[in-house]
Amino acid sequence: MTQPRKLHIKSFGCQMNVYDAQRMVDALAPEGFVETANADEADLVILNTCHIREKASEKVYSELGRLRVAKDEAAQRGRRMDIAVAGCVAQAEGEEIIRRQPAVDIVVGPQSYHHLPQLLAEAKARGRALETEFPVADKFGFLPQPQPEAIRARGISAFVTVQEGCDKFCTFCVVPYTRGAEVSRPVEKIVDDVKRLADHGVREVTLIGQNVNAYHGDGPDGRAWPLGELLQHLAKIPGIVRLRYSTSHPRDVDDSLIEAHRDLIALMPFVHLPVQSGSDAILSAMNRKHSADDYRRLVDRFRAANPKIAFSSDFIVGFPGESDEDFEATLALVTQIGYAGAYSFKYSPRPGTPAAELQETVSAAVMDERLVRLQELIDSQQSAFNQAAIGTTVEVLFERAARNPGQIVGRTAYLQPAHVMAQPDIIGQVLPVRIDSLERYSLIGALAAPQQRQHAESRREFPQSLQLTTGA
Ligand code: SAH
Ligand code: SF4
Ligand code: F3S
Repeated sequence: MTQPRKLHIKSFGCQMNVYDAQRMVDALAPEGFVETANADEADLVILNTCHIREKASEKVYSELGRLRVAKDEAAQRGRRMDIAVAGCVAQAEGEEIIRRQPAVDIVVGPQSYHHLPQLLAEAKARGRALETEFPVADKFGFLPQPQPEAIRARGISAFVTVQEGCDKFCTFCVVPYTRGAEVSRPVEKIVDDVKRLADHGVREVTLIGQNVNAYHGDGPDGRAWPLGELLQHLAKIPGIVRLRYSTSHPRDVDDSLIEAHRDLIALMPFVHLPVQSGSDAILSAMNRKHSADDYRRLVDRFRAANPKIAFSSDFIVGFPGESDEDFEATLALVTQIGYAGAYSFKYSPRPGTPAAELQETVSAAVMDERLVRLQELIDSQQSAFNQAAIGTTVEVLFERAARNPGQIVGRTAYLQPAHVMAQPDIIGQVLPVRIDSLERYSLIGALAAPQQRQHAESRREFPQSLQLTTGA
């Protein structure tokens, strides 16, 4: 019989890493591993790393320095602690990680998490284990599907990977090198995953992929299905009341996705659509292959399909050669679109990417100043968006008990956290909430119509508005 062993995973970076961490927990559960929040007492610590910017990447080595001390202390007490580095730094740096920090036992790239039990055994036998190969394409050029797909349900909301990798090669970005070529999972596998999650209480599914709307998975009819068609199909699964997807690229938005937003009540009207810059010269140097006007037209198409759609985005300031005028064009675009929120980053040159070779760098001082100005503009738009909810009634999917006793927390269509005083039996239901106030980023309100409460456990009892899209 296997002894219970303790596993601690710390994840950095994007939603894909959050999902992968859950995959790793599930892959190690049959080996007797249970999760612990305390790294010091773990038998296996996994750092699930991100390589996107230098800061993210370097964080790994300071974490590893701390873990080495914990590992030495464990060894003094006669206990073995394995340290594994997973994720995109593992993929990008491979063996170099062990050279920089010899306390590391395992280096494992994102394509190989299903081998973790074998890698652990190998590390025990040989002292080290490394696996960062991309799966090899067969003679027809087909890559094996990413695996293992299925993760256990954890609460009301779940991520499901539908696509991995990226073929876009934006000149600043490491993702095509760390996550490899784009691969879509077949429709039927995704449908099975979502059905199983729904059977275990999941009500909201976010389809994830580095380039999620490049999705073109094999459908049951032998055609490659676009994301919009997949969403139409998933909306019919009993129990699933909300669908989201992330992250999309402006170039891959097709009519099927726009139609899904027009037709599906379950598809939330909140779209993360990174634009990076409002300047055509910079967009071209970034190899984004769309103009600022293309992006504006795209936003108009979404809004024409469903006027309730709100947008978020990612921006990079200080890309090599970004002039004052280029930056002003970004501010102008933000002002024009009006975002519900956005992430903005200072450009960070990444080894191996084409932009890292560019000479016309923007000074640190100018980058700082531009970042502050952009963030102030985005923050003011985000506050205005949140303020606008006060006094209105919005639908909230309740997820869990809040920290404050008696409060239950859920999310609006726009992912705003919303708190109400209520019984825990509302968890898993979508209910109307009258919003009274805003505390930082959280909406505070009260259930609007308790007498109309419906239980989300059974599809027959779903609120009328949701039945339209959940009827199989
Ligand atoms: N696939 C997504 C983005 C993935 S990376 C897309 O195409 O939009 C998440 C964000 O990190 C990017 O949108 C970009 O804004 C930022 N980013 C990526 N590389 C960066 C770099 N070298 N420096 C600064 N920010 C970067
Ligand atoms: Fe990176 Fe561009 Fe691919 Fe997004 S689309 S992951 S920014 S290369
Ligand atoms: Fe980071 Fe890799 Fe995600 S570089 S953003 S963890 S795909």
